[in-house]
Amino acid sequence: DWTADNIVEEQVEIIRAQVGTGKAICGLSGGVDSAVAAALVQKAIGDQLTCVFVNHGLLREGEAEQVEKDFVASTGAKLYIADERERFLTALDGVTDPETKRKIIGREFIRAFEAAEAAIVAEAASEGEPVKFLVQGTLYPDIVESGGGEGTSNIKSHHNVGGLPEDLQFELVEPLRALFKDEVRAVGRELGLPEEIVNRQPFPGPGLGIRIIGAVNEERLSILRKADAIARAELTAAGLDNEVWQMPVVLLADVRSVGVQGDHRTYGHPIVLRPVSSEDAMTADWSHLPYDLLSRISNRITNEVDGVNRVVLDVTSKPPATIEWE
Ligand code: XMP
Repeated sequence: DWTADNIVEEQVEIIRAQVGTGKAICGLSGGVDSAVAAALVQKAIGDQLTCVFVNHGLLREGEAEQVEKDFVASTGAKLYIADERERFLTALDGVTDPETKRKIIGREFIRAFEAAEAAIVAEAASEGEPVKFLVQGTLYPDIVESGGGEGTSNIKSHHNVGGLPEDLQFELVEPLRALFKDEVRAVGRELGLPEEIVNRQPFPGPGLGIRIIGAVNEERLSILRKADAIARAELTAAGLDNEVWQMPVVLLADVRSVGVQGDHRTYGHPIVLRPVSSEDAMTADWSHLPYDLLSRISNRITNEVDGVNRVVLDVTSKPPATIEWE
């Protein structure tokens, strides 16, 4: 019968049988699926696995550290960090169109990942041990979504920033293929991953790049990161993490409005809170969060985040609006 420790034991055997003494790599996105898949494979084959984390600079406060420190500390995994923040900022310079942003981020991500992969493959080859396996955190619903069957398990990569090219030179290792999201979380806990990783709410691959309405730059990312961190902290403090599906926080970077703070006039940007309730993100309703929580978030953001003088609440369901603003 189904328990997380049964799954772990069973998958460890299967992974060992598949990989043998070979080498594997696994991309970490910061999300729960790739973290659990990597932790499982790490348990099975230890240092035969190298994890790759491309820091695109579009993650929220603390998320890169979660991968670089907490994930490594809890799993002992070997991690290759590609600090590509500059690459993404340069590529996104001046770009405002949502689809163009997504395309650029996806394209640069593949390039950055391939560069990291090439470095790892070259080093392994110099030791006479080619990298033969690529670990992916594909879940059962990803396979169903794609129409099922072998070789079609890549659907998620297509809309994920972790998207990989079709001409794959690796054999795939997909230890989560039979699992649903809540089962993946249970397996993650069993493997000792920190709750902040295991319980992470959905976050889009293109990250904060599509939550800045307008062009992306370091200053705007910094404003949005601070506002988002406050909103998340207050939601957690109110004990309501499980009441919302996710709560995007959006910076209207090209909009300014007049405000007053102390005895002077301000001309700052609005922050939008977009808390939603949903079963599967296909449809969603706006979450009716308590007014006192919304007040705390608004007061803290306007007091603590320079450049923001207004906080607004998105009260639109999906459809007609999408969850994300871009
Ligand atoms: P929308 O905005 O379409 O979002 O209502 C539905 C769900 O998908 C997430 N999302 C993404 N996830 N890569 C992802 O991995 C993406 O490019 C992407 N875009 C949106 C969004 O956060 C929501 O959960």
